[in-house]
Amino acid sequence: MRKIIRFTPLLPKPVWKLCSCRCHTGSEAAVQQSEGGGQIQNKIKKKCQRKRPSCPAVLDHFDRQYGEELGELWTSARTALLDPRSWQYGVMLNRFSVLTDITQKLQSQGFSALLPQTNSSASLCANNPSSTEERDLMLTPHELHHYLQSKPSLQCYIHPLSLRFPSQAHRPGRLKQYYLINAASLLPVLALQVRDEDRVLDLCSAPGGKAVAIMQSATPAFLCCNEPDPHRREWLTKTLESFLPHCLSSRVTVSGQDGRLLGQTEAGFYDKVLVDAPCSNDRSWLYSSSIQQGAQRLKDREKLPLIQAQLLRSALSAVRPGGVVVYSTCTLSSYENWAVVEKILEDFPQAEPEDLWEEIAFPLSNYFTFSPPPNQKHAHPKKYALTLDSTRHHRLGLLVVPQNGKMWGPMFVSRIRRKE
Ligand SMILES: C[S@@+](CC[C@H](N)C(=O)[O-])C[C@H]1O[C@@H](n2cnc3c(N)ncnc32)[C@H](O)[C@@H]1O
Repeated sequence: MRKIIRFTPLLPKPVWKLCSCRCHTGSEAAVQQSEGGGQIQNKIKKKCQRKRPSCPAVLDHFDRQYGEELGELWTSARTALLDPRSWQYGVMLNRFSVLTDITQKLQSQGFSALLPQTNSSASLCANNPSSTEERDLMLTPHELHHYLQSKPSLQCYIHPLSLRFPSQAHRPGRLKQYYLINAASLLPVLALQVRDEDRVLDLCSAPGGKAVAIMQSATPAFLCCNEPDPHRREWLTKTLESFLPHCLSSRVTVSGQDGRLLGQTEAGFYDKVLVDAPCSNDRSWLYSSSIQQGAQRLKDREKLPLIQAQLLRSALSAVRPGGVVVYSTCTLSSYENWAVVEKILEDFPQAEPEDLWEEIAFPLSNYFTFSPPPNQKHAHPKKYALTLDSTRHHRLGLLVVPQNGKMWGPMFVSRIRRKE
């Protein structure tokens, strides 16, 4: 039976319970690392992380695989990934929180908006001047609709240098104002094109960064955040509670299913499904805590494409005909990216890949370095064979490759529409 966690809204403290109906909610304080005692500091700290040693076995493996797959692009990505002090962090604003001071601070310190903004002056404070308990924001569905119409949608501030805005500690009764995020993580959410009243499934949801971004982009009728790992699910529910007011509790749910099975139990129910799949997380794997951990990860890596394909297949079953599935990973590995998408397209004739170049890559090319699918002619004979025609081949997806000054990614994004 599907386990869903729900909190009872409009109480001073959320009360959580497990129940078996489809609709649910999650929440509580996010587990972002906190710097500077939780206070937003006027001065941005230059990240003073010491240079950490990388894991030789993982680096060697990446050199062989990515050197072959990405050529020169790997040489520069390697340099960037091996210097964590150069890593950049975006500041995703929370439209349900009081924002005025944050926006001013960001702008005065040289941050600028990554995405075009709609109504940046609107804030919870403007609508509810007396509200200090943002989480307990009490609105009827009608009022909620009007309130959200005045809200700016997804906003993320980025800095051209590797400056890190301090993360925010838990504030009792208050929502967090922002979430620190790798800006490339917003691309799968943009590709999902969530509209108000969509039914959305975030199949692999913890710790919840993309779920928060989805709720900044639109007001779905229903967002199911699924995470089978109990500890990560707890983290997810805390993230949701830190960022969403109680009045959204009937729309956002947390479930703990194996995502590979959800397609059967919820066949055709969703308009949009995000598969932000478990993958070789290149950034963190490079800094594996021991040689043994690095070796184990490389061994387990071989199993990932199968799990990813099973999750993507399940997502295509969960989405209604005409709906879309976005598949994303945070690895550069072609086996976990293009190869998984191509395999699924072979198995699923009713699935059609969609072009993200015009919509996402070209407009954002000042901020991100995108790599197209590997050229068919140069595909290594032992690798997967790209057999699609060139237009379809181009539509397989986008790969964001970190580069000096554009330190976002790795992130692979592909959008697939279920035709029938
Ligand atoms: C890359 S992380 C997701 C990150 C998340 N979307 C975010 O933006 O914060 C992948 C998640 O998939 C989960 N996962 C692993 N196996 C899964 C499965 N069979 N079904 C669903 N989720 C799974 C992992 O526990 C992990 O939390």
